[in-house]
Amino acid sequence: MSMSISLIPSTLKFLLFLALIPIAQTFGQGDPLYRREARFHPVVAQSAMVVTESKYATQAGLKVLKEGGNAVDAAVTIGFTLAVTFPRAGNLGGGGFMLIYLEDSNQVLSIDYREKAPEKASQDMFLDVERNADKEKSRHSILSVGVPGTVEGLTLALEKYGTISLERALEPAIELAQRGFTVDRELSKSLAQAKGRMEGSRASMDIFYKKGGEPYSEGETLIQKDLAWSLKQIAEDGSEAFYNGAISKKIDSFMKQNGGLITSRDLKNYKALIRRPVEGEYRGYEIYSMPPPSSGGVHLIQMLNILEQFPLSSFGHNTAKTIHILTETMKHAYADRSKHLGDPDFSPVPVSGLTSKKYAKALKEKIDPEKSTPSREISPGKPTINEGSNTTHFSVMDSYGNAVSNTYTLNFSYGSKITVPGTGILLNNEMDDFSAKPGAPNAFGLVGGKFNSIAPEKRMLSSMSPTIVMKEGKPFLITGSPGGSRIITTVLQIILNVIDFDMNISEATNAVRVHHQWLPDELKVERGLNEDTINILREMGHKVEIGNTIGVAESIMKTGDYLYGASDPRRPGGSTAGY
Ligand code: GLY
Repeated sequence: MSMSISLIPSTLKFLLFLALIPIAQTFGQGDPLYRREARFHPVVAQSAMVVTESKYATQAGLKVLKEGGNAVDAAVTIGFTLAVTFPRAGNLGGGGFMLIYLEDSNQVLSIDYREKAPEKASQDMFLDVERNADKEKSRHSILSVGVPGTVEGLTLALEKYGTISLERALEPAIELAQRGFTVDRELSKSLAQAKGRMEGSRASMDIFYKKGGEPYSEGETLIQKDLAWSLKQIAEDGSEAFYNGAISKKIDSFMKQNGGLITSRDLKNYKALIRRPVEGEYRGYEIYSMPPPSSGGVHLIQMLNILEQFPLSSFGHNTAKTIHILTETMKHAYADRSKHLGDPDFSPVPVSGLTSKKYAKALKEKIDPEKSTPSREISPGKPTINEGSNTTHFSVMDSYGNAVSNTYTLNFSYGSKITVPGTGILLNNEMDDFSAKPGAPNAFGLVGGKFNSIAPEKRMLSSMSPTIVMKEGKPFLITGSPGGSRIITTVLQIILNVIDFDMNISEATNAVRVHHQWLPDELKVERGLNEDTINILREMGHKVEIGNTIGVAESIMKTGDYLYGASDPRRPGGSTAGY
């Protein structure tokens, strides 16, 4: 690139410079998002924007917005479309959380459509004869499936806060399932990786693999006729079809025939819940995020409260000093998670204690600014009791000022890999997010206590953190990520990168991330963190592990008259568009 620019004659360069002035003016001169030093630039729009992990879903959502639909209409359309075009995480057979900002009432609310344990579940159901946690059962068997919440969550959102019909919201999903869509490299690769486990389900193999067992290749068309049938049932009968109709009958009989626990009663009793988001304040910005049964919002605010006491911007982005403080903060938050978090309808979660500035002050005092405190010396604190990795996130903002931040999942890539015959619906393996036994780590290495033990009809603890950051009462940043235990720290770093380090949303998304979750006592860093920094961190006592990417953020930022969006390059295939 620099070679070809240097070959352009200088007069032409000058003319090019003149031609670019009006563009710079369009975006506002001196606009921090268009500074010359920015190495990454976001997608820009004036009225509305959609960021998802699938171009089909982005286009489907954008079309709804262009037709005059609101952000909730677009989000529900996207949710159903991803179930077809992004089957590793988009789903009908899983669950998730939606955070909604409504401009008219100036209110942020959340919908909890997390899966829950079936009535027949029991505390020790994943223990083997020696009373050890049996990972095979909790992650890869039919017992790993929680009662799905997605259909109830999406239909409830549309009914209460949307403006379009359910038929309209389901249109693109039905079309793409019925006629098929073009498989991209990512989908083909993920199917190749999942094949070993998928072979346990005849129905999954029949849908996602060709005769002979080869996954569909890039450029080929994937048709999902059974899924189209399910989507049409929902278009006709609403969520009744899934919870008390044609689809529930198929799920119930499949469970009975295969030793599963979910019954038609479990499905009939499932309810999505409207919950008040957790709220915090960070350097003058208002933070809204998901309350329990997600741990995401609580610990995001807890960590921001601790970090607010340090002048991070003067420490510098991703310097050893900043990463050290971040790491120590993360350890305290994840230690607390292991003890205090669970389904609030079953145990009292000390939300206001954990998110209070006072508690954050006490935790700050425990942080040694010079050296790492080993995790074994950190234990869950005592807040006052006042009261992935294969998930996917999408963000939407409409021209009316509404916003949606949604994260939903099947847990693992393709969940349990089990498809209910005749429905095209892949089932989650979310039961692994319960604590099978105190101290036994789940698939993300997270340990839990009795608050997250298995009980009938209880929701398993999550880390999903759909978040809306407000500035002067208006949405400023819509963000979230997949990544299991790494979701919370990914969202945290997006917020810090924007607020403390003055990055545009594309820079904030591309920047190298770090993660610590108390146990195991390892500081995970992405490739690209400079060696000098890593060496200083090691000298401070951190066990630095350079490894896989951390999170996949899909965010929108609004400043001035413009919307700026960025899809995370860590998972290619993401798509940002607006108008
Ligand atoms: N299944 C990952 C999460 O909910 O955190």
